Amino acid sequence: MAALIEARSCERFRLLSEGLADEEMRNFYHEFMVSEAGHYKMFISLANNYIHPDKVKKRWHEWLEFEASVMKNMQLSGERIH
Ligand SMILES: [Fe+2]
Repeated sequence: MAALIEARSCERFRLLSEGLADEEMRNFYHEFMVSEAGHYKMFISLANNYIHPDKVKKRWHEWLEFEASVMKNMQLSGERIH
């Protein structure tokens, strides 16, 4: 679950950084994106250290399916990063 949160943060910061005209702010959010990608990888790596990678991968896909089901039933209420 933590890896999924970090991965989605990474995606949001990528979108944000790509949509900014100001180069300094674009680079600022790009660095957040890189940081969040590192967090995502770290959580997957930690899980793989304690649990067989096949089981981690299976669980990852279960979280993706759960997230998709939540998104299908979610009412959006304005723009936000988190
Ligand atoms: Fe993070």
